[in-house]
Amino acid sequence: MKNIIFIGPPGAGKGTQAELICKNYGIKQISTGDILRANVAQMTPLGISAKSFMEKGKLVPDEIIIKMIKEEITKPENSNGILFDGFPRTIPQAIALDNMMVELGMNLDRVLLLEVPDEEIILRLSGRRICRTCQRTFHIVFNPPPDPKECDRGVCDIYQREDDKEETIMKRLAVYHDQTSPLIDYYESKGKLVRINGVGSLESIYDLITKAIQNN
Ligand code: AP5
Repeated sequence: MKNIIFIGPPGAGKGTQAELICKNYGIKQISTGDILRANVAQMTPLGISAKSFMEKGKLVPDEIIIKMIKEEITKPENSNGILFDGFPRTIPQAIALDNMMVELGMNLDRVLLLEVPDEEIILRLSGRRICRTCQRTFHIVFNPPPDPKECDRGVCDIYQREDDKEETIMKRLAVYHDQTSPLIDYYESKGKLVRINGVGSLESIYDLITKAIQNN
């Protein structure tokens, strides 16, 4: 069983690599951003509370996120291992996760930090496109979506995320440096952190990640 955390700035490639790693290791991805966006789309009470924070590029309050993770982490489909993508994002979230893991007898194997400079993040996020049908993530230059007629998972319906507009990208980056980057010291001091150079081809980064997981 593997339990892994991906941290890194918005657009570092966490979601892209998480999909590949989960397939390879047979573990489940818990992406707090994806869960929140699904709730916003369905206008659930959770989605209604989260929407305005997300649109402004701010973090959703810790108590909402921690409650959401408590519900996810115990689902039977997650019993083979979890890749946390976009959680924790603050020190209180990290402490809450530590406590949940102790309570549930779970072990944290690795925390992988995907390091990407801000200039590259802006290029990546402003060109990111997502398919509503299959939820895959693309980039208009670096990883172009297939021709809609050739999509192997149905007809691709490509859109741009609301928070991928340049002004919101800058706010999300500031929030990352201010509120999420303290997690680097937190996990380094526990001996769990591995730094991964997140600039390069999808394949070369995937190789670095798998090596870091295997060396655990
Ligand atoms: P969330 O959805 O988690 O967004 P994020 O962390 O900002 O991360 P992204 O999904 O934007 O990027 P990514 O690292 O997954 O990159 P990707 O693989 O797509 O959160 C959204 C919002 O929800 C937050 O702002 C907050 O409001 C809220 N939220 C979520 N979790 C929360 C929490 N725990 N606490 C509080 N609030 C929370 O790649 C990006 C682009 O780059 C793509 O186009 C991709 O094709 C391309 N790309 C990927 N790898 C490469 C490469 N190697 N070279 C070139 N291009 C690449």
